Amino acid sequence: MRKLLPLLNSGHAGGRSALTCRYRCGDACFHEVPNTSDNEYAGDIIAGVLSRRSMMRTAAVVTVASATAGVVVAQGATEAHAATTGAAAEGRGGHGHGSVCDGARGLRFAPVEPNTADQVTVPSGYTQNVVIRWGEPILRGAPAFDPDRQTARAQAGQFGYNNDFLSLLPLREHGRQVLVANHEYTDEVLMFKGYDPANPTREQAEIAWAAHGLSVVVVQEERRSGKLTPVLRHHLNRRLTATSEFRLTGPAAGSDLLKTSADPTGTKVLGTLNNCAGGTTPWGTTLHGEENFNQYFANGSSATDKRYGIGASATERKWERFDKRFDVAQEPNEPHRFGWVVELDPYDPESTPRKRTALGRFKHEAAQPRLTRDGRPVVYMGDDERFDYFYKFVSSKRMKKGDSRAAHQHNLTLLDEGTLYVAKISGDSPAAEIDGTGKLPDDGEFDGTGVWIPLATGDVSHVEGMTAEEVYVFTRLAADKVGATKMDRPEDVEPSPRTGRVYVALTNNTDRGKTGKAGADEANPRNLNKHGQILELAEHWDNPAGDGFAWRLFLVAGDPEDPATYFAGYPKDEVSPISCPDNVAFDPHGNLWISTDGNQLGSHDGLFGVATRGERRGELKQFLTVPKGAETCGPIVQDRRVIVAVQHPGEVDGASVEKPASVWPDGPGRIVRPAVVAVYRQDGRDIGV
Ligand code: FEO
Ligand code: CA
Ligand code: CA
Ligand code: CA
Repeated sequence: MRKLLPLLNSGHAGGRSALTCRYRCGDACFHEVPNTSDNEYAGDIIAGVLSRRSMMRTAAVVTVASATAGVVVAQGATEAHAATTGAAAEGRGGHGHGSVCDGARGLRFAPVEPNTADQVTVPSGYTQNVVIRWGEPILRGAPAFDPDRQTARAQAGQFGYNNDFLSLLPLREHGRQVLVANHEYTDEVLMFKGYDPANPTREQAEIAWAAHGLSVVVVQEERRSGKLTPVLRHHLNRRLTATSEFRLTGPAAGSDLLKTSADPTGTKVLGTLNNCAGGTTPWGTTLHGEENFNQYFANGSSATDKRYGIGASATERKWERFDKRFDVAQEPNEPHRFGWVVELDPYDPESTPRKRTALGRFKHEAAQPRLTRDGRPVVYMGDDERFDYFYKFVSSKRMKKGDSRAAHQHNLTLLDEGTLYVAKISGDSPAAEIDGTGKLPDDGEFDGTGVWIPLATGDVSHVEGMTAEEVYVFTRLAADKVGATKMDRPEDVEPSPRTGRVYVALTNNTDRGKTGKAGADEANPRNLNKHGQILELAEHWDNPAGDGFAWRLFLVAGDPEDPATYFAGYPKDEVSPISCPDNVAFDPHGNLWISTDGNQLGSHDGLFGVATRGERRGELKQFLTVPKGAETCGPIVQDRRVIVAVQHPGEVDGASVEKPASVWPDGPGRIVRPAVVAVYRQDGRDIGV
């Protein structure tokens, strides 16, 4: 019998605690949906191999003596608590998974059962280590973490808070890779003892600025296992925060809409905020979506502020008290300088990261490129909000291969010129057959076709009544005008490196079908959608630069016993339950890995692998679960290890530093810390074979 878990009693949309809603999204779930346009909805109508140049460039650099020894010892002391293996054996009944050897190559492990253990639970035969935690010093001169004496200066040299997207890039230093992490947001009540939300101090605000942003940290592989440890003070290690310098580039850079009193050029921005998911380019850079940037800005009042959810009063963190740029009444254009895709060159610690205006401004969740047959990058992007849209950008320039500086300089301009499109999706079944329950239509699939509607190409607008600059800065409004399809929160997106098909995680949308809101359509087939779905998109003639595609739903998530779920047609008594798909990634075998955010089935969030091809297409198996209050983020699956970002552990209503809801990762009496975890096999062999 299936072991039923008690349903977590959260009144919050998407299954998150009120604390998550408050700090991560600025209570987006409780605000009116900002898309009030009357668009039709559907029912109505690495990739490449990383450039060698990056590895070449770093090869020339003198090997820096690593200073990890002390830290490794310190971690060793706490791993006994953090490492939990074999817990997968708990209650294996219910799912028809046979032996560990069953499954597609790469997915041969005993699935972890849904559970609410306050730990990272991994399959039997696997083990784990905490790679790096919030506050670990990564830059020269940064002090050891001391939560009682934290300063903004210390934090600016330490790993940031709430790790989300992760990328690992190759490095020509033996057994080393470059880890890049997003730090989406801060949980002040879990960071500061005695935090008073009504009266944050300047120091607390400045610590939070320094805990946002990005981290670059070189990691060392252990020879005989998949274990990873940070190389502290490596010359490539870097922190970018809410006050670091960024450059706006592309067709809207320098626009009047982007000028402020501090920056009359409209090109120089301080900071990046709310970096959620991202992507890794074939030319060796990383992309980082600026998602719920609206919540940092106070006193918004214009129509465009509203379309992006900028509130009319004070913000939760009250940063506007300490820097007037967060007060829209004083600096109306400052919010226009956030909500972009950031491109970072992790191999060049002196480089200024760019905000690419050609990719549009919205609540960017992720941005993952693939190349056209003639070598031009195409970037797929979701706007994570209920009833918002799915986009792609097609560059007009070809990527240059090779290691030369000229090729590198050229590739750093690829995302500045091209065409931005938004998706309009149609189903192929009669609208009457999409009844909002998730019942499959008579043709047996939620599927159909779609068109890419161009919004702007360089300085040319394709949207009536809007200039190109307006299209880029107010992209949501442009997409409203052309009738884009309202989706169930488009989150992460990943093109399959094997097939080119693109997978789009649609997390949930509990507002679908409510009075006055768009109802179910074939791509978003459930009203009051709690569990989300994954859409599989194939460009016509496999031409990513084209203007049309075919699509079908690959997964309709939830309890497999719920008739409204669908696992690509695979027998549902042989799959793990899944709810609220968020981040997606491919393993070296071509399986899709899915992490979840806001499980609505009573279990903690987790990471799942699923075959996308062959007889086992749709066979979904849970690989791990995360601690209490946490979301699983940033999955990377390499031959010998799986890496996840454990984001917001202990983020449960009523929790604080004094009253923690979780003791992860360091056990009772130690502050709860978001951290990156590597999981690998005890016998040192490859994952899932
Ligand atoms: Fe930051 Fe859409 O999750
Ligand atoms: Ca159909
Ligand atoms: Ca997310
Ligand atoms: Ca995501």
